[in-house]
Amino acid sequence: MSRLLVTNALPYANGPLHLGHLLGAIQSDIWVRAQRMNGYEVSYLCADDAHGTAIMLAAEKAGLTPEAFIEEIRQSHEQDFAAFGVNFDQYHSTHSNENRKLATLIYTRLRAGNYVAHRCIRQLFDPEKQMFLPDRYIKGRCPKCGAPDQYGDNCEVCGATYTPTDLIDPRSTVSGVAPVMRDSEHYFFELSQFESLLREWLAGRLRHDGRPVAHRSIVVKLREWLDGGLKDWDISRDAPYFGFPIPDAPGKFFYVWLDAPVGYLASFKALCDRTGLIFEHFLNADSQAEMHHFLGKDIINFHGLFWPAMLHGAGMRMPTALHVNGHLTVNGAKMSKSRGTFICARTYMDAGLPAEFLRYYFATMLSDEPVDMDLNLQTFQELVNSHLVGKWVNIASRTAGFTQKYFHGRLADHFEQQEATLWQQWLALYENIGTLYAGDHFAEVIRRFVTISDQVNVYITTKAPWVIAKDVSRRDELQQVCTLALHGFRLLSALLKPVLPSTVAAAEVFLDAPISSFGDARCTLFGHTIKTFVPLLSRLDPKRLDAMVAASTQVETAQVTTTMPSAGKKNMNETAHKITPDASASHASGTIRIDDFAKLDLRVGKVLACQFVEGSEKLLRFELDAGELGTRQIFSGIRMAYSEPEKLVGHHVVFVANLAPRKMRFGLSEGMILSAGSNDTDLFLLEVDQDARPGAPVR
Ligand code: MSP
Ligand code: ZN
Repeated sequence: MSRLLVTNALPYANGPLHLGHLLGAIQSDIWVRAQRMNGYEVSYLCADDAHGTAIMLAAEKAGLTPEAFIEEIRQSHEQDFAAFGVNFDQYHSTHSNENRKLATLIYTRLRAGNYVAHRCIRQLFDPEKQMFLPDRYIKGRCPKCGAPDQYGDNCEVCGATYTPTDLIDPRSTVSGVAPVMRDSEHYFFELSQFESLLREWLAGRLRHDGRPVAHRSIVVKLREWLDGGLKDWDISRDAPYFGFPIPDAPGKFFYVWLDAPVGYLASFKALCDRTGLIFEHFLNADSQAEMHHFLGKDIINFHGLFWPAMLHGAGMRMPTALHVNGHLTVNGAKMSKSRGTFICARTYMDAGLPAEFLRYYFATMLSDEPVDMDLNLQTFQELVNSHLVGKWVNIASRTAGFTQKYFHGRLADHFEQQEATLWQQWLALYENIGTLYAGDHFAEVIRRFVTISDQVNVYITTKAPWVIAKDVSRRDELQQVCTLALHGFRLLSALLKPVLPSTVAAAEVFLDAPISSFGDARCTLFGHTIKTFVPLLSRLDPKRLDAMVAASTQVETAQVTTTMPSAGKKNMNETAHKITPDASASHASGTIRIDDFAKLDLRVGKVLACQFVEGSEKLLRFELDAGELGTRQIFSGIRMAYSEPEKLVGHHVVFVANLAPRKMRFGLSEGMILSAGSNDTDLFLLEVDQDARPGAPVR
């Protein structure tokens, strides 16, 4: 069985981890755990990305040397990942000897292969600070609309894009003085020499199994860049710069993105040196080991173009696959410090929220497709309470007591016919779980989880062990019920193990039966004795979420001064291709793709109340029963069409559940109810058959 090298995108060492960083890391961690259960040996790697202008300036501002600054942050990142169960085999730094050696080696080989050119470029220079300025460090008046205080690449007021030299009255944000133009020699990696290789690689033709290297939408995006023509990539920066010096080029440093992905290998090298693995076996051009990269959609050009070309140009193996995650929003909007939704990993933990709840929530929505994900705090609470506590743990808490009390924890030694049939039914639903995980289809795994646990709970409710228990003559029947239910519980525990490693570890102790592969839970435990049940999880208290949001609102001012988040990624990308954040954005307007449609969370809502809104001629206030989403208040502009709102009570309507809540003069509107028609008086609510369950998704 081949070995896997798995990497997680390296967070910048310029601030604390936030929930967006955790999305990708939790995804890769779940994948790694599942692949281990599938029998693979995995080396799971990460590191801090420690170089670049932003970090250099942030350290200066904090009054620290860059080395001291990044070391402090590296420790906090390591702790935060660990707190969320993200269990790297090695957490390293790009500012390390391993990385210096490897980056230098790769560069030297690229140069020997004639892939590196140099030429002079003109760039803005800060004469006071004596440094060249990346675009993001220059501000001035917009050349188009005259708005003051605009960045060197685009105007946030009118949206114009331009180059920093176009700015009126430009200023260096570092020193405040007017920058001047200066020539400087730069080094370029000639990416275009790799075009046909990259096409082969992208098509999966370099993989042993011929499978695609990434989700189709990513392959399409990367191919668009290839079709548009590959430009040379500027890989050098002038001193002062926090990074590694370029050999034989005094005063020149590697651009941060040159040595960042090499950091994956540096981290692996450190692991090899510690554990005796042989680095070359994984990195030689003909290596049979697989190399999987997990990353966010904003950095696919680096991982899907530059990096594979660098590796190949240096005579090394290429990546096996890119697993790409979309971006995280909170409550329907970009994480925002003023709304308290820019949530740091630490803030979540400090509010007393269980890390595994977040892992579960992410898993319910992750697939191989890099779509954005919303953390809706209301849904989060409802989901974990209903699924984990209400469905899964409940199975054990409803049957473990009887097992202890009447059978000293002993399970039956066979299944009766009905139980045997159900068991086979659940096993069939459990089939392929390992393969689903391997294909990044976590949401599908969770759907199986919900289906199986619903069936187990229906079985328990129908059998009503609490009734059977009252009748001494029905002990065998009682033991059957408990035995089957606990087998179901174990199956579900195995299924959840990659997502909830520590909670499931406690479940294994309770069952006194370890789970190390997905196959383990398929074996029956007839005659086996379980241990006493202790509640594995308790319901999420919404007060903790409130506390987290409150704490996040405060964190803002404390952080901005030291970590400069606005000077983060954008300026580091300055010479790379512009990123089109949404992989689907390139599609012809007028049509949408199925994944655009899938972004709408349409649900059935049962009208609990419907009234006129005082002071509004247009609105009706609805209160909807939205099933597992709880109740929702929605204001809908259909008053003119419905003169007797109370008659709508009990009707089933369709509403958009993931629309960002809107504060209106009359209160918060949490979604949008769908109706047909185009003018105020001629509107008709879309209704759903009375049998539809409130909260049911509309597809
Ligand atoms: N240092 C580079 C990566 C180098 S990899 C050789 C970088 N760092 S980052 O700190 O900005 O981001 C680290 C990872 O977190 C990236 O995969 C990025 O896409 C991801 N995310 C950062 N913010 C995110 C969200 N809001 N949502 C989801 N992922 C996000 O890029
Ligand atoms: Zn403008």
